[in-house]
Amino acid sequence: MTLKNKRIVIVGGSSGIGLATAKAAYAKDASVVIMGRSLERLNQASAEIGDGVESRQINVEDEASVKAAFAEIEMFNHLFVSATVAATAPLTETTKDKFRPTLDSKIWGALHIAKHAASHLLEKGSITFISGLAGRKGYQGFALAGAANAGIEAVGRNLAVELAPIRVNTVCAGVIDTPMLDQVFGEKNYKSLSR
Ligand SMILES: NC(=O)c1ccc[n+]([C@@H]2O[C@H](COP(=O)([O-])OP(=O)(O)OC[C@H]3O[C@@H](n4cnc5c(N)ncnc54)[C@H](OP(=O)(O)O)[C@@H]3O)[C@@H](O)[C@H]2O)c1
Repeated sequence: MTLKNKRIVIVGGSSGIGLATAKAAYAKDASVVIMGRSLERLNQASAEIGDGVESRQINVEDEASVKAAFAEIEMFNHLFVSATVAATAPLTETTKDKFRPTLDSKIWGALHIAKHAASHLLEKGSITFISGLAGRKGYQGFALAGAANAGIEAVGRNLAVELAPIRVNTVCAGVIDTPMLDQVFGEKNYKSLSR
């Protein structure tokens, strides 16, 4: 399969699953645009992926930032969204303030992006979100993270109806060794999560 002449935008493309997706698309000859908050991480990722990769700063929690990032972008074929601020905590430490960035990035972020990117998608275009196992199974400390992951699957299903014929899908990830996992779990053994 080749992705020659396809333009793919990856929001969250400077790290982890997004970066791996950007590299895979680039290796199949797609033209790749990566987005994230940190310019430094974007520059580092662009250099890692290869020549000609475009990057844009964006904060998906902030609708104005999303609107500005997509306003200045050329039409494209596919959109992959993996930008999330991850957090877990036991119930006793669960507060709105602690988890607001998780919901604002995963749920509101997805809605902001779909709202301002859909009109830039070419015919037969697609949007792919990413959820996680905590949305389907129970884990200690993941009540809110699970809600966000179950929520994004609902967002995807409903937007698939609203945005048709644009295809909207959500991929449920297992446990994938990325900087986010290190940040959430530190040195803790997270093998039990894969069950
Ligand atoms: N890794 C796993 O095992 C796993 C399992 C299940 C689901 N997932 C899901 O997969 C997705 C990607 O996870 P990952 O492990 O690849 O994480 P990651 O390595 O931390 O990458 C997250 C990416 O999103 C960007 N980002 C974060 N918050 C943002 C914001 N507010 N606005 C714009 N960009 C933002 C980050 O760049 P900046 O920080 O520079 O903005 C980075 O490029 C997440 O939705 C996560 O919930 C991961």
